[in-house]
Amino acid sequence: MKIPPCKPVFDKDMERAAVNALRNEFFILGESVYKFEEMFTKYCNTDYAVAVSSGTAALHLSLIALGVKKNDKILTTAMSFIATSNAVIHANATPVFSDIDETWNIDPKKIRIKDGVKGIIPVHLYGRACDMDEILEIAEKNKIFVIEDACQAHGAEYKGKKVGGIGDIGCFSFYSTKDMTVGGDGGMVTTNNEKVAETVRKLRHCGRKSSYEHDIIGYTARLNTVNAAIGIEQLKKLGDWIEKRRKNAALYQKLLSDVKEVSLRIPENDKKDVHYVFVIRVKKRDELKEFLKKNGISCGIHYPIPIHLQPIYRELYNYKGGEFPESERHAEECLSLPMFPDLKKNEIEYVCDKIKEFYG
Ligand SMILES: Cc1ncc(COP(=O)(O)O)c(C=O)c1O
Repeated sequence: MKIPPCKPVFDKDMERAAVNALRNEFFILGESVYKFEEMFTKYCNTDYAVAVSSGTAALHLSLIALGVKKNDKILTTAMSFIATSNAVIHANATPVFSDIDETWNIDPKKIRIKDGVKGIIPVHLYGRACDMDEILEIAEKNKIFVIEDACQAHGAEYKGKKVGGIGDIGCFSFYSTKDMTVGGDGGMVTTNNEKVAETVRKLRHCGRKSSYEHDIIGYTARLNTVNAAIGIEQLKKLGDWIEKRRKNAALYQKLLSDVKEVSLRIPENDKKDVHYVFVIRVKKRDELKEFLKKNGISCGIHYPIPIHLQPIYRELYNYKGGEFPESERHAEECLSLPMFPDLKKNEIEYVCDKIKEFYG
């Protein structure tokens, strides 16, 4: 049996929509872009959604739109994809980190707002919402903003609310492995703040105020029309895919619950996960990954190095290791098992059998 780690979907509906958009719309900022934004707004229950070229661009432009400048600090989790904090550096500010807790998301109890911190970027890691009430309370007390990094969490819920509509801004990625894609790179900024939405619209489009007038220094960070057209079709199917992912996750949880070498993510009742990836924590992680690979099962690792210990962050900010112990331990033990909507019951059983075989 051969099982890939993930399987992006591109079906006939998406193909038809892509060709139709290429034939009948402007390649750049065609009708489909605005339709996709409108649908995403409804999906996240926000007033505005602005489509951009990637999740990184969504974060970068959001930080600029909120007025972040040189010497500002932005706090985020040490356990995320590096793009979360790279966006802070792109915006000319400095990322500072905080550790995770046993839910594998940022631990609100450990957050310390020091001088110069202007905002928090909680990351809804692997499709699980962060403790947003606690984070919003910290932000309100310190008069700082919250940008939700929802790049791994399209459709995830916190106390009945979709992520991306809880903080000041939500940022999404449509990179090919995400639980929805656009058939290439893409991103979305969601917000209820009209001024922020308007600024991000300008920033993505060279700072254009009108056809020939530019009143801010902008970027070329638009979502292509063809990608938006694919995104529309994907968004229509997202709910169904999330349900399938949840079923798959429930089966993994059931089959692995009695394997003492495997730690599963602790459940949290007020959150509905979307299982962008299905992560377990294990000892002898690399050996297990290799064993599974030999048996046709491809796994990922999200992430083997916490951001602060990436070579460039060590060099820039002098991190040595030991600063964020929970993130560092997580990086050593985490393993992402195959996860996609059409993963079959017998495939999940096979993966779990092989894990049990490995640990004897
Ligand atoms: C948590 C997180 N933040 C940001 C990004 C950046 O998104 P993109 O790759 O679309 O720039 C990603 C995904 O790649 C991500 O997983």
